[in-house]
Amino acid sequence: MAKHTIVTMPGDGIGKVVLPEAVRVLEKVGFDAEYVHADIGWDFWISEGNPLPGRTIELLEKYKLGLFGAITSKPKDEADAELDPKLKGKGLVYYSPIVTMRQHFDLDICVRPCISFPGNPLNFIRRTVSGGFEEPKVNAVIFRQNTECLYAGVEWTDPPPQVRAAFATHPKFKIFAEVPGKELAISARIFTRQACVRICRAAFEYAAKHGYKSVTVCEKPNVVRETSGMLEKVAREVKKEFPEIAVWSTNIDAQMMWLTKNPEDYGVIVAGNMFGDIVSDGFAGLVGGLGFACSANIGRQVAVFEPTHGSAPKYEKLDPPIVNPIATILSACMMLDHIGESQKSRAIQKAIGQVVMEGKVRTYDMMRLTGGPKAIEKGAATSIQLTDAILATL
Ligand code: NAI
Ligand code: MG
Repeated sequence: MAKHTIVTMPGDGIGKVVLPEAVRVLEKVGFDAEYVHADIGWDFWISEGNPLPGRTIELLEKYKLGLFGAITSKPKDEADAELDPKLKGKGLVYYSPIVTMRQHFDLDICVRPCISFPGNPLNFIRRTVSGGFEEPKVNAVIFRQNTECLYAGVEWTDPPPQVRAAFATHPKFKIFAEVPGKELAISARIFTRQACVRICRAAFEYAAKHGYKSVTVCEKPNVVRETSGMLEKVAREVKKEFPEIAVWSTNIDAQMMWLTKNPEDYGVIVAGNMFGDIVSDGFAGLVGGLGFACSANIGRQVAVFEPTHGSAPKYEKLDPPIVNPIATILSACMMLDHIGESQKSRAIQKAIGQVVMEGKVRTYDMMRLTGGPKAIEKGAATSIQLTDAILATL
């Protein structure tokens, strides 16, 4: 019997392209695992009215480790229109299966490393005073609280009377009190202390383990006093357990400016769900964008690893496939690190680094080409060729 069982969830679109490529790399590196396929995504919304079927939840409950590709989400009207006619009128509502999965298993810690590979033509460069260019080494790891904040889904348009009454107890609600219900939308930003402690502790532990000198809280406590304020306060409390690591605080808006001015100054960053989403995409753009952006969703029992990109439906049917599998392969590396197989993870990352540096095999995004069938004619590698190059280096 294999040492590990990995629940593989390719999902939709290019998820079906990149996930098998990551598995090929895991196999090559001798990872002792077997893979169990699990259904997720748009097809299962259409045919079953549930994009995250119960059998997939059961597999994750049983095996605890998931590798996920990407899913397609569409607006409510399109979701209703595409649902199997036999299921229509039964009150079924589409919910993003990845958000549902994070909430179901309380995958509250999201880790998004944004680390530049030397020689990547997509790396951020900066003009120097003398007119030349310099390429700062970016090495930021974002810890995003993954289950609360504005993404908790507590929201209303035309809030019910009890909700209005509750809001009316706050003096600042006065100016909204006369707004007609249908013209009033409210999304609640909810933080709990317990979740703040977990995400902050995870960030500081990671910083200590990997030799980062600081943890930066990236929120907006000067304006969003209660929720951002709570995260910042907790970070300063948790910091006391880690005397060697400094705690810094930046506002999300200023941080988005600084990340293109001095990205090399940031190491571990901790943020709530919304700002963590924003700042991690910002940093990802400095190190290669979606083709390189990997992530881990870690709960107490279950952990799921995924590229942060979506299903890119326009490239789904291209044969040969053109999308960059590196984000998914790096996500698989995060899985290896999570279960203590760091040596294998390092070997894969080294091989990726070498292929990127050599620059002989590059997918269209790494060549700054427009995606599409013509990309191959213009010299871009296919997804498979890029993985092959990594395998050959391994
Ligand atoms: P997307 O991430 O799927 O694609 C945006 C663009 O980024 C693509 O058109 C492509 O040019 C590029 N891209 C993405 N992945 C790439 C890769 N591996 N290699 C090279 N280029 C890549 O985002 P989009 O177009 O906004 O959404 C498409 C669908 O994906 C939607 O239905 C959306 O809801 C869903 N989505 C799912 C996510 C998930 O499964 N976690 C995350 C984001 C979007
Ligand atoms: Mg995002």
